[in-house]
Amino acid sequence: MIKGNQLYEGKAKIVYETDNPNELLVYFKDDATAGNGAKHGTIQGKGVINNKISTFFFKQLKDHGVKSHFIETVSPCEMLVKKLDMIKLEIIVRNVVAGSLVKRLGLPEGTPLAVPVIEYDYKSDELGDPMLNRWHIMALNLATIDEMNQIEHMSLAANAIMREILKAKNVDLVDFKLEFGRFDGEILLADEISPDNCRFWDTETHEKLDKDRFRQDLGGVEEAYQEILNRLTL
Ligand code: ADP
Ligand code: TMP
Repeated sequence: MIKGNQLYEGKAKIVYETDNPNELLVYFKDDATAGNGAKHGTIQGKGVINNKISTFFFKQLKDHGVKSHFIETVSPCEMLVKKLDMIKLEIIVRNVVAGSLVKRLGLPEGTPLAVPVIEYDYKSDELGDPMLNRWHIMALNLATIDEMNQIEHMSLAANAIMREILKAKNVDLVDFKLEFGRFDGEILLADEISPDNCRFWDTETHEKLDKDRFRQDLGGVEEAYQEILNRLTL
């Protein structure tokens, strides 16, 4: 595999072309942002850790029947993936009330939800990623009903699989964000699965082991990312 031109630089990753038109190289950065880019910072070692945690989850999900863009890890900060026609949605799955749901539902942080809740945000920095429902998604031609059904099925499957794996490591999966894309007529899970886009709480203490430590200036950010990697892989 030969690394080609930079295709895109985002807030957390840089995407490069490769000599294969169907494959991309994703470089995980240490940069961190919050509040749709309002807060900027660096989390030392995050790129390496998020590459490892994402690799771990993509492999586990594949073993349990959830297909993703992941091909292989090629360096500490880089992952080779299938180049997808990305669906401009962020799919959020929630098991416990936290983050933006606290205000929206008026419930205390930590309230368990009776069933997992799926939400959609329109991936648009200019609009501030507004929440959409299935009607908006169809009206904007972002995805078909059939694709939405597949995305929901895969998201709930990923939730069940990840919850089970994390439970054994004394970690509660509070909520997370996924992205999907199309490849050869198939819907595949894309992007990353890491403490940047998941809320992980210690089961006993409810200590936050994710990006909320950065968002809320709680300190111990690097340690929390490392702790999740250790619990999953050691
Ligand atoms: P953002 O664009 O939100 O700042 P990142 O810094 O994580 O996010 O940039 C990674 C970009 O790559 C995102 O826009 C994401 O949608 C896109 N992406 C992730 N996986 C793939 C893939 N397999 N094929 C094409 N694009 C992808
Ligand atoms: P929220 O409570 O702020 O809406 O976030 C829900 C989950 O989705 C949380 O795990 C963080 C993740 N998320 C992202 O990864 N990117 C985003 O842009 C947003 C809004 C949330």
